[in-house]
Amino acid sequence: MGLFSSKNEGLVAIDISSTGIKLVELSAVRSGYELKSMAVVTLPRDAIVENTVIDSMAVSQALLDVIEEAKPATRRAAIAVSGNAVIIKSVMMPISTEFELESEIEFEADQHVPYDIEDVYLDFQILGADVDDPSQMEVVLAACKREVVDDYQLVLSEAGLETKCVDCAVFALENAAEVCGLVENDEAEEAFEGEGDYAIALVNIGANLINVNILKNGQMAFVRDQFYGGQNLTEEIQKEHNLSYQAAEAMKKESFSDVSSEALERFYVGLTSELVRSLDFYAANHSESPVQHLYITGGCALVPNIAEELEQRLGIAAKVVNPFHHIKVNQKKFDQAYLDQIGPMMMVPVGLALRSFDT
Ligand SMILES: Nc1ncnc2c1ncn2[C@@H]1O[C@H](COP(=O)(O)OP(=O)(O)OP(=O)(O)O)[C@@H](O)[C@H]1O
Ligand SMILES: [Mg+2]
Repeated sequence: MGLFSSKNEGLVAIDISSTGIKLVELSAVRSGYELKSMAVVTLPRDAIVENTVIDSMAVSQALLDVIEEAKPATRRAAIAVSGNAVIIKSVMMPISTEFELESEIEFEADQHVPYDIEDVYLDFQILGADVDDPSQMEVVLAACKREVVDDYQLVLSEAGLETKCVDCAVFALENAAEVCGLVENDEAEEAFEGEGDYAIALVNIGANLINVNILKNGQMAFVRDQFYGGQNLTEEIQKEHNLSYQAAEAMKKESFSDVSSEALERFYVGLTSELVRSLDFYAANHSESPVQHLYITGGCALVPNIAEELEQRLGIAAKVVNPFHHIKVNQKKFDQAYLDQIGPMMMVPVGLALRSFDT
């Protein structure tokens, strides 16, 4: 599912976010996928604020830099949108075919999307028939403000990139999770055989946003983008140590052991309460199938011991996921130690790059 896409001969994922641009290109190989090209460049602060390109010169330059570094084989790009620009709703509709739904979806979306329907890009996915009422089916609707997509498309075109696919970060997260074997595995199989449920939460914690996707029996049961992330920790460090933003970022990334436990504690209290909100929301509709695993990705997955902390605070088994441990990597071309280090941060762009192989 994507907000729009055209049938493709290869795509390069360009994940533009508040702190930087990440590029990932994959190829299909016998064992699954192989990393073809990859690069990350940082953006100056405030170049992009809440999905709006403020400093288009800086963003264009960063795009040129990321292309120069990675040298992808294609200029056909897949991009991700998230946050306030995106509305994702699960709705019940009478059973119909995908073809029939095409013509009804605008009318349906109009009732759920708080923007003028002319101003959004729309897509949908049929999840399946309702268990309680077989005449109804569950449909996931995704809408994104056109101005946000058009804005990105413009800067991309200035850097010689053609936007061929727009996806929601939460869906990219799910596609990457499948490739990492988090969705269909022995544990899921076991639960299924025992007629139990298997629920996992994918939690991608970036600088400003947490993309949450809770899957029950392999199907999307709850998605949300929450406003919280690594920036909150940086701000706590700034306050506690009386540092500039840059110095606090550097302390966080380069000398984490110097970070005061008070700053860290406040960050975790905030993070936990955000995650509890999503988990509670999910539990309200699925109390019989609690989340069994929490899979952590995003830049904050690089915070030392975050999985242990969240496991303890939430009482749910938690693990950091590195997508590069589940795809083939040519050791001659890429620095494995670097991929081991930053991999968890690349989950969304990896998922986005998988859109190349949609049929
Ligand atoms: N080694 C590290 N240790 C701790 N935090 C880190 C490390 N590396 C990156 N981060 C933090 O991760 C965050 C960036 O993560 P990520 O790249 O996933 O976010 P983003 O996609 O740019 O942001 P968003 O999606 O929220 O707009 C920043 O807050 C950064 O400080
Ligand atoms: Mg992000």
